[in-house]
Amino acid sequence: MLWARRIAAPYDLRATRGRSFHSPSGSAATIGWTLVGVGSGPGFGPDVVSTEDAEDAGNGAVASPVAPLVTSTLDATSQTHDSVDHTVDDAGTDRPLLLQPLTLGGTTFRNRAWVAPMCQYRVEREDGVPTDWHLVHLGARAQGGFGLVLTEATAVVPEGRISPQDTGLWNDEQVEAWSRITTFIREQGAASGVQLAHAGRKASTYRDFPGEPRGTVPGDRGGWPTVAPSAEAFADCAAPAEMTHDDVDALVEAFAAATRRADRAGFDVVEIHAAHGYLLHEWLSPLANHRTDELGGDFEGRVTVPLRVVDAVRAAWPEDKPLLVRISATDWVEGGWDLEQSVRLSRLLAERGVDLVDCSSGGAVPGAEIPVGPGYQVPLAAGVREGADVPTGAVGLITEPKQAEQVLVDGEADVVLLARAALREPAWPLRAAHELGMPWQEAPYPAAHARGHWHDAR
Ligand SMILES: Cc1cc2nc3c(=O)[nH]c(=O)nc-3n(C[C@H](O)[C@H](O)[C@H](O)COP(=O)(O)O)c2cc1C
Repeated sequence: MLWARRIAAPYDLRATRGRSFHSPSGSAATIGWTLVGVGSGPGFGPDVVSTEDAEDAGNGAVASPVAPLVTSTLDATSQTHDSVDHTVDDAGTDRPLLLQPLTLGGTTFRNRAWVAPMCQYRVEREDGVPTDWHLVHLGARAQGGFGLVLTEATAVVPEGRISPQDTGLWNDEQVEAWSRITTFIREQGAASGVQLAHAGRKASTYRDFPGEPRGTVPGDRGGWPTVAPSAEAFADCAAPAEMTHDDVDALVEAFAAATRRADRAGFDVVEIHAAHGYLLHEWLSPLANHRTDELGGDFEGRVTVPLRVVDAVRAAWPEDKPLLVRISATDWVEGGWDLEQSVRLSRLLAERGVDLVDCSSGGAVPGAEIPVGPGYQVPLAAGVREGADVPTGAVGLITEPKQAEQVLVDGEADVVLLARAALREPAWPLRAAHELGMPWQEAPYPAAHARGHWHDAR
């Protein structure tokens, strides 16, 4: 009652629960943006064109205030409303949807503000074993109130690392080190998730740190030969070897084995990385998969390997634990992977027991024009959600609590994922609780941080 009394007034209450409430702007037919950017690469590999925090969209996108690519019912500013429609949760309270629990499979997340995967490049020993850096980095965001804390792209085999300083999950020493981190995250009331990855033709690159060289790390400096569906280099990276059918079998088994280790390490969630031009996206995209055998060609051919990976991971992952897949929902290039194919793929993923599709974009090829702006990938999450009837995550320049709340209330996505805003502000959900009118006593403050709670009378 206290809760309802204190925040009912500012909100237009609607007795709706997420999925039943779709915004017209979320339909695939009306997608468009008013800012255009030029992306040249993965955004956290050797070919980032800008590291300006306000401009780098994490997938090589750089905002550019030039003419519209397409006009649309959803412009870049429509994601930041002053007033937000609101929802009533199952308990009859009017807590912001962003801070209501969400259940996927057998796991209930305390809220819908999640930390997106972010490479840290801080395994200085180059053995894939997460360090105190990872404990503090991930642990701080669990303390900060996020519902799910996802790790960086974590390689299923050493050759699958983006850089020599990436984390991995191919041996027991890594399982043990991750266990310490998942335990800490759980103790803070958050769920932990590992993003399992193979970087394909974008592997073995220098870490994306200011002042570091770009491109492929040579063998005598800790680099290794790369593999891909086709023997074609990405930008100025070294050319990969074309994967054989035996390589594909080994890849599928490596994902399954890493999944079993993820379970032993105590992770609550596995996310398969099939985005940003890394190996599984390379299989999907007609811009990177030029094979002439049954693993290339049409849609059915190109989805074969990623679906084999999904099946193997789902079989290795406890049934009640959620499985997510991150996709690049469009390559932003004519003739490339697009939203329509993403919807088709997402239907197949849902049939295979994938619980949520995390919708990013870009990264397959250099030079894509990416319409960067606030919430610029939200329409992709909305299109997949509506078209495939599967829960989705929205990511990409979601920075403000009211903006995030509106995405959820409008039914465009089931969760929001934050990357750069979470770097700047590890306790972003606590500010969100304050700005959305939630009493601090109900917000996810650790007891030791309660004295620092947000309140109006400073
Ligand atoms: C430092 C950094 C590292 C990233 N590493 C990964 C990664 O390991 N896996 C991934 O899927 N995306 C990665 N991304 C992309 C983010 O998850 C996210 O999709 C992107 O930054 C857009 O979200 P934002 O606008 O909230 O930053 C990274 C982004 C940043 C800024």
